[in-house]
Amino acid sequence: MLLANLLRRRCCSSLPLLLGSVVVLWFCSSLHVAAAGSKVEYLPGVQPEGPLPFELETGYIGVGKLEDIQLFYYFVKSESNPNIDPIVLWISGGPGCSSFVAMTEELGPLLFDVPKNNWSLPTLSLNPYSWTKVASFIFLELPVGAGFSYAKSSKNYTATDVETSYHAAEFIRKWLEDHIQYQSNSFYVGGDSYSGITVPMVVQAISDGIDAKFKPLVNLKGYLIGNGVTFKDVNYGDTFRTARGLGLMSIEQYTSAEACKGTDCVDEFGPLFTGEHYYWPNVIGEENDAERFRGYNVHAFDRHLIFKAALIASRWMNHDNVLEALHVRKGCGEKWAKCRIPLHYERTVHDSRPYHANLSTKGYRSLIYSGNADVFVNSFSTERWTKSLNYSVIDDWRPWLINNRIVGYTRTFSNNMTYVKILGSDHIAPTITPADCFIMFKRWISHEQF
Ligand SMILES: *[C@@H]1O[C@H](CO)[C@@H](O)[C@H](O)[C@H]1NC(C)=O
Ligand SMILES: *[C@@H]1O[C@H](CO)[C@@H](O)[C@H](O)[C@H]1NC(C)=O
Ligand SMILES: *[C@@H]1O[C@H](CO)[C@@H](O)[C@H](O)[C@H]1NC(C)=O
Ligand SMILES: *[C@@H]1O[C@H](CO)[C@@H](O)[C@H](O)[C@H]1NC(C)=O
Ligand SMILES: *[C@@H]1O[C@H](CO)[C@@H](O)[C@H](O)[C@H]1NC(C)=O
Repeated sequence: MLLANLLRRRCCSSLPLLLGSVVVLWFCSSLHVAAAGSKVEYLPGVQPEGPLPFELETGYIGVGKLEDIQLFYYFVKSESNPNIDPIVLWISGGPGCSSFVAMTEELGPLLFDVPKNNWSLPTLSLNPYSWTKVASFIFLELPVGAGFSYAKSSKNYTATDVETSYHAAEFIRKWLEDHIQYQSNSFYVGGDSYSGITVPMVVQAISDGIDAKFKPLVNLKGYLIGNGVTFKDVNYGDTFRTARGLGLMSIEQYTSAEACKGTDCVDEFGPLFTGEHYYWPNVIGEENDAERFRGYNVHAFDRHLIFKAALIASRWMNHDNVLEALHVRKGCGEKWAKCRIPLHYERTVHDSRPYHANLSTKGYRSLIYSGNADVFVNSFSTERWTKSLNYSVIDDWRPWLINNRIVGYTRTFSNNMTYVKILGSDHIAPTITPADCFIMFKRWISHEQF
């Protein structure tokens, strides 16, 4: 017990010479790992069985002082033309959620299937709407503490948000140093939910590095954010407007809520549309429909599964065969969790609008998308702040269509910021409306008209 604790504390730091190297290497195998990146050709439970039909590489990159911070990533090569397709660095929200969640529950190449039972290893199927069909993605576990990322010096390393943005910038320069063939590809940063704060900060840090001529120069083109937290509306005005707009509140309830001021309002009126009364658009409850949707998406048909998804994912992720297949270092970091709670993390930035304003002056493109049925991080608020940057509208509010069907509305500003609303979608839009979101991404990343 004592030995185990000692080893755990020493995990990945200097080699404890007193101990047999076999034990040490087993305990934290980072000690013999040199550079980044190992191929993953097979993953347990992926259907159909056999070699993965897409290219996956995982690895750690050390950043910060003495490379103390070891950031884990999953690199999925574009299934079109990886030599020229853009690369997106994707950061999940939380803060502290693993980017593997984006890779297997949102926009990546895999989706968890509905489990047949509670004991055998969960299975996964291919996502027909994976965004990796048109771009390469680096799913990064950020900040330190999220997913498999860890600090060598301390189990409870507390990173600040600003420091974290510089960790990401250093990460991408080092990754490009190790992957010279991708240095000229267009580069983007993306994320959703809490990453509405993180992504603009990371883009700013990368942009600062470009200004300082840090090598290799990142071919930074822009960023994308889905239902991103941007700042806090203490009166929850847009939340109530959204709930009323969706028909989740009576006119009387809405009138009382509108008159409410301050943070207590959501405690008072929130229960009308949260918890047990949470409304999921496009959710299908019938068993037959669930069967029909199998392999598309664990989430989109049964709200009870939505809450179980974390259990399913962590049962799979923490299985020895999976850890080994993903080249996860043994004994380093914590057990994998969908979202790390509590996360040792210090927030100093509570409003990302100044970052958007700065990035706008640099000509970076941005896609700000929003599933319209997200009551909390809602479209109304997003429409308000994108407008408040005061750039002229170059393509005004209009529907965007797929096969003559209105999917949502869009507007583009002269700072190259495009706002896209997706109707019938929610906080994690690609989970709820995968086909529409895939087409949205494909059009934007390929500079096509909406
Ligand atoms: C899994 O376990 C839960 C209780 O934790 C139970 O409600 C559920 O029916 C079980 N599912 C199956 C498929 O056995
Ligand atoms: C690390 O954090 C956990 C959870 O917050 C706490 O229980 C533990 O005591 C901390 N350990 C150290 C060494 O600070
Ligand atoms: C915006 O840019 C200015 C000038 O480079 C800088 O002083 C300021 O700190 C930046 N703001 C943010 C939020 O990064
Ligand atoms: C928008 O992007 C284009 C390239 O796509 C660039 O030429 C232009 O300068 C950008 N706009 C602004 C306002 O920077
Ligand atoms: C946009 O214009 C409004 C009204 O003139 C002003 O209050 C606001 O500060 C401006 N926003 C920015 C980001 O400059």
